[in-house]
Amino acid sequence: MNTNTEYRTAERTDLPDAGKIKEYIEKFCGENNNRPDIPEIRVFEETGSTNDLAKEFYKEDNGKELIIIAGSQTKGKGRRGRKFYSPDKTGLYISFLLHPELDHTKSILLTCMMAVAACRAIEQVTKVCAGIKWVNDIFCNEKKVAGILAEGSASFEDGKFSYIVIGTGINLFMPDAGFPDEIRDTAGSVLNTDFNNDTRNELYAALIYRFFELYRNIKDLSFKDEYKKRSVLIGNYVKINNYSAANENNCAKVIDIDDECRLIVRYDNGKTEALSSGEVSVVKY
Ligand code: BTN
Repeated sequence: MNTNTEYRTAERTDLPDAGKIKEYIEKFCGENNNRPDIPEIRVFEETGSTNDLAKEFYKEDNGKELIIIAGSQTKGKGRRGRKFYSPDKTGLYISFLLHPELDHTKSILLTCMMAVAACRAIEQVTKVCAGIKWVNDIFCNEKKVAGILAEGSASFEDGKFSYIVIGTGINLFMPDAGFPDEIRDTAGSVLNTDFNNDTRNELYAALIYRFFELYRNIKDLSFKDEYKKRSVLIGNYVKINNYSAANENNCAKVIDIDDECRLIVRYDNGKTEALSSGEVSVVKY
């Protein structure tokens, strides 16, 4: 372990609790008569980024699956080099270190799997409806409440993952100081009620349970239908931010999400394009 890594193990009482999370998982297993194999869960009071910490643990023991949870993150990372605001008490910050038998070009599948798991978990615990904004954002009440960041490394020889870390951040409650200016208009929290530590533990458990229920049957790709049904983009006009197509404008209508989880868009000139990465924002007319 790199001794420069900054993290503290859990001691405070308002922190996520591995014991309680496991109890909730047991309850869900019983209720659903399904017991997916769940990796070890390690909880930390604070870290830079749970994704980075998971990668550190990979260096230590490179065959092991692991779940890393932190009470807060000082350097929470989002996609495209953005920060993920990660204050204590109100959010969930969790990373899964995995070693799937999967070609690295298929990493989008795991992001989509996690998005479906996150929606199911949110709805199960809070009864608030959740939708997916392709690829990796979860929306409740038209605000982004969660994001997913997958990072990995693959072997040159066979293209398979040596590891992949899938990190998820969920704003469960409204942070005491609200959201920072740069995300104030777009970010929201799943619940408006006051902080409650047990709801947070229950949601951690539901997310872990719902993800491993899908991941342990990785060959069953039926979750993709649910991913598509939960899309908040299909039928809407979007602005494509990493615009690459040979079209004079970068606005298009989203018409589908295909089997490879690509976003299918149609421009006004009738041309269609399959987007496999990048970002889009909904255009309001
Ligand atoms: C995004 O919205 O662009 C993705 C956000 C992903 C945030 C989670 S929080 C847990 C894990 N650790 C990180 O540093 N990032 C992810």
